[in-house]
Amino acid sequence: MVTEHSRHDTRLDRFVDSYSQRTNGMRVSAVRALFAVANRPEIVSLAGGMPNIKDLPLPEIAGSIADMITSNGTQVMQYGSGQGEPALREQILDVMALEGITAHADDVVITAGSQQGLDLVTRIFCDPGDVILAESPSYVGALGTFLSYQTEVVHVGSDEDGLDPTALRETVARLKKAGKRIKFLYTIPNFNNPSGKTQPWERRLDILSVCAEEGVLVVEDNPYGLLTLDADPIPAMRSADADVIYLGSFSKTFAPGFRVGWVLAPHAVREKLVLAQESATLCPPVFSQFAISTYLATQDWQGQIEIYRDMYRERRDTMLHALAEEMPDGASWTRPAGGFFVWVTLPEGLDSQAMLPRGVNARVAFVPGGAFYADGQGARNVRLSYCFPPADRIRIGVQRFADVVRRELEVMDTFGIDASPHELRRPTGPGPDLT
Ligand SMILES: Cc1ncc(COP(=O)(O)O)c(C=O)c1O
Repeated sequence: MVTEHSRHDTRLDRFVDSYSQRTNGMRVSAVRALFAVANRPEIVSLAGGMPNIKDLPLPEIAGSIADMITSNGTQVMQYGSGQGEPALREQILDVMALEGITAHADDVVITAGSQQGLDLVTRIFCDPGDVILAESPSYVGALGTFLSYQTEVVHVGSDEDGLDPTALRETVARLKKAGKRIKFLYTIPNFNNPSGKTQPWERRLDILSVCAEEGVLVVEDNPYGLLTLDADPIPAMRSADADVIYLGSFSKTFAPGFRVGWVLAPHAVREKLVLAQESATLCPPVFSQFAISTYLATQDWQGQIEIYRDMYRERRDTMLHALAEEMPDGASWTRPAGGFFVWVTLPEGLDSQAMLPRGVNARVAFVPGGAFYADGQGARNVRLSYCFPPADRIRIGVQRFADVVRRELEVMDTFGIDASPHELRRPTGPGPDLT
């Protein structure tokens, strides 16, 4: 006899009726499954956003962390402040000063990576149905967070200089007319993930002035700013406007495994963030904060950023050179001045999502552009990253990628297949391979 209980047990997930609406809105991505395959050594992955930290001075870091435990072990392994350790908050002011920001340590909240900063900011500002404006395209991990709070993400058009202030003004007007509540503009002004584009200084000021006129809060996410490859850093938006909420991170300028980032926010917002942080984690990771603080105090961290810049510059140049040599007519791509990513636009008619399995077959992985939109755009785009594979692998990866594109074009020519945009199949979170 089949009991009620055993019938429930035969379901794939017997908790299915218990989840919140929020959780039921989360989708597993078709792309995720392919990335499991893409991690095989024979595949060149141009998909992942993992920084290359192999040149860190590990013995020196190990020594200073050992000293830290010997001299201060009972504090660094204890609970700490919900806002983050005061000494590290002071040191973060020096990091932000490199991008023109002057602030007070009291307005800094330390987070478990800037990803948690995004989560806390969304949590304190957004109710279900609220609108968040984001550039086209935008960081997949932020879109996942925004979605998990049941907000509506509206993309704002961009040109070669990133987010377009005219499009921003029009979008805000349209949304206000439709009675929507806009909570903030989320923007990545430096070396956008995924487009690689950078907003020039004048552009930043224009965006700020539209937002000030329209009463839209700006959230500036800047994990890549110091990884500028051709010129000095452009001052942060926050340097021109103290009402901007600024997200920073040590993931790309030092190492992501410590999971330490921060939010710099106007005083009242900062108080709410600390309350949200305390309810999420009690306090950000104390050991990691002390480890980073020790690193900043004892190692040449600015010299390390120079080492990173030289290494990423070589990889970026290798990728741009290989693309110029290998890609067929009709494709175009961005030329990032920093960061990790190149954004490719495929020849008309091709669909990057449909191409991915064939890419993996040809032993190259990339991220289809649809992942970086909340609204189904991006079918003709691909994000390629140059941060992790060494130059020779980048060259091979681009050759394979270009071959796949060429074969797609041949198939389209032969069969006249219309690779029309797919229905949205967006991952809900970055995962290690999508950051
Ligand atoms: C634009 C952007 N914001 C935030 C993050 C999250 O970084 P973390 O949480 O490691 O600081 C990433 C990671 O790739 C990113 O690209």
